[in-house]
Amino acid sequence: MKVAETAEILLKNQIDTTQLPEHIAIIMDGNGRWAKSKGKLRVFGHTNGVKSVRAVTEACAELGVNYLTLYAFSSENWSRPRAEVAALMELLVHTIRKELKTLQDNDIKLNAIGHLGNLPDKCKLELEEAIKMTKNNSRMTLTLALSYGSRNEIVDAVRSIALDVKNGDLSIDDIDDQLVANHLYTHNLPDPELLIRTSGEQRISNFMLWQMAYTELYFTPTFWPDFQKEEMYKAILAFQNRERRFGKTSEQVKA
Ligand code: IPE
Ligand code: IPE
Ligand code: MG
Repeated sequence: MKVAETAEILLKNQIDTTQLPEHIAIIMDGNGRWAKSKGKLRVFGHTNGVKSVRAVTEACAELGVNYLTLYAFSSENWSRPRAEVAALMELLVHTIRKELKTLQDNDIKLNAIGHLGNLPDKCKLELEEAIKMTKNNSRMTLTLALSYGSRNEIVDAVRSIALDVKNGDLSIDDIDDQLVANHLYTHNLPDPELLIRTSGEQRISNFMLWQMAYTELYFTPTFWPDFQKEEMYKAILAFQNRERRFGKTSEQVKA
């Protein structure tokens, strides 16, 4: 067995599988800088990032995490150079096609959130097909955030709630936390307990603003293409060493 594999197993064994986050969300960042550090084009980083997606998805499914959400393309990412956007969309199509078998073999259900209507037709079709094919899988739900922006999501929710009020289907007094949550793209997902962002950036970049009210944030300098199972285990271990107080005192939580 290689040294790296041994380190990976040692880390994995330290994880308390009875205390796993039910939902982990990841801002997969640093593909471009990873490629640049190797003297390659940015797209090379995106291509290599797919390996991390596979490793992390597998690690989470094996451990027993129920929901994994990956921020793959933000509403702001449309502003990137046209060639990069096109390459990312092409990569998305190929990846979904290629990884469908992995999803089926691992009993993983695919889900997507965001303004999916803005994706090129080829992406939409491939995505819809994979979602349909995996809809009865139940080990883990893998959600891809695509053309996703949390402010858009909140605006959409406000519009839909306002429409219900206008049509007389809803009274203003019925608007509460739960009702708002039910109108978000994530209505069928629990809030994430753990958010990971790679590449050293420490910001949220318009990702799940409402849902992350009490999420534990974990930032690592590792670029996304270098984020493999071992890194995932480290993040979960860090999470398991946090004390989640939800406004209470430490003494109350321990009692
Ligand atoms: C994350 O890596 C991938 C996407 C946002 C699609 P980046 O492409 O943002 O890489 P950096 O941050 O420029 O290194
Ligand atoms: C955030 O990464 C979006 C995704 C990972 C898909 P960016 O690299 O686009 O974020 P900013 O703009 O630098 O904050
Ligand atoms: Mg980036």
